[in-house]
Amino acid sequence: MRDMATDRSSVTAGNTQPSGPARGTRPRVLSGIQPTSGSFHLGNYLGAVRQWVALQESHDAFYMVVDQHAITVPQDPAELRHNTRLSVAQLLAAGLDPERCTLFVQSHVPEHVQLGWIITCLTGFGEASRMTQFKDKSARHGSDRTSVGLFTYPMLMVADILLYQADEVPVGEDQRQHLELTRTLAERFNTTYGDTFTVPGAYILKETAKIYDLQEPSAKMSKSAATPKGLVSLLDEPKATAKKVRSAVTDTDTVIRFDREAKPGVSNLLSIYSTLTGTGIGELEQKYAGKGYGALKTDLAEVMVDFVTPFRERTQQYLDDPETLDSILAKGAEKARAVAAETLAQAYDRVGFLPAKH
Ligand code: TYM
Repeated sequence: MRDMATDRSSVTAGNTQPSGPARGTRPRVLSGIQPTSGSFHLGNYLGAVRQWVALQESHDAFYMVVDQHAITVPQDPAELRHNTRLSVAQLLAAGLDPERCTLFVQSHVPEHVQLGWIITCLTGFGEASRMTQFKDKSARHGSDRTSVGLFTYPMLMVADILLYQADEVPVGEDQRQHLELTRTLAERFNTTYGDTFTVPGAYILKETAKIYDLQEPSAKMSKSAATPKGLVSLLDEPKATAKKVRSAVTDTDTVIRFDREAKPGVSNLLSIYSTLTGTGIGELEQKYAGKGYGALKTDLAEVMVDFVTPFRERTQQYLDDPETLDSILAKGAEKARAVAAETLAQAYDRVGFLPAKH
């Protein structure tokens, strides 16, 4: 399934055999999500989290809530703490199972920042300046209100991935450039200091690589959109979500056909519908032939409500039990640290840091 569905154009995973931490027979995946808003949105879920849930069955999976990435833009401390737990609750509600994957919070594993420094020193200033996410965000906020942390953010992400010797990284299309940087820097480190890191591949599913805004179907769904009208937040009232789906922008013609260029709005709805129900796009086109956009939107609104209603309930149940959440995270951090510490020790040795004598 993976070979057919994944865009593996940039994948050459496993082409380096690190002599690092002991590996099981399963390939390893790692990914992260920011706790920057109260709720994940449909793009986060379909573009990434859904794949995380599937991959825990076949891979040695490490998933984290990246609170250190979150503070690259200002955060209210109490909100950040709450949103970090809320993110973990949503990941569990989405189907992550702490028995099947390692689930942790980035700041609980100090090795991320430690390796991050080495990676930062390996990166060219010009190379970092070409990161489009940084360019977009800093253009929006102005350079005086843009932190140096936002600039070095991709290097921390590189460290996140390399610490775990990940073979593949399940993400949405917007992270592809960061994944390419990760490969470049892993290769640079290996060439400079000797084989140390696995060179990871991007695991990006074509169908859901980019979920678009419901009101502006040429832009990706994002919490920083000008208006929240086209953003499906998973924890919103189901009725509000249904309304957003029913008022999604389509086009003036009435034909239900998947055509990303000519019919971006309808195509986005078809992708979402198809992924959430497991029905092929061709089948949906046939089902709605001659029926018009209203029928498609009404049915998709129902599909969405059926999806978000139990998701919200499960999230709330996990959130109501912070002790269990914290104990899941404590175990996750312990498992993550065992791997991260070993990789970091090797990287420290390779770059020539004098070992500390205790
Ligand atoms: P973040 O928190 O912005 O997004 C989490 C995941 O959701 C995906 N995504 C989308 N996919 C499809 N369509 C969309 N409209 C959409 N919007 C978001 C993102 O691609 C991402 O996979 N830098 C990362 C977090 C990170 C990370 C890592 C990821 C930090 N370290 C190490 C992988 C490995 C980020 O900000 O994701």
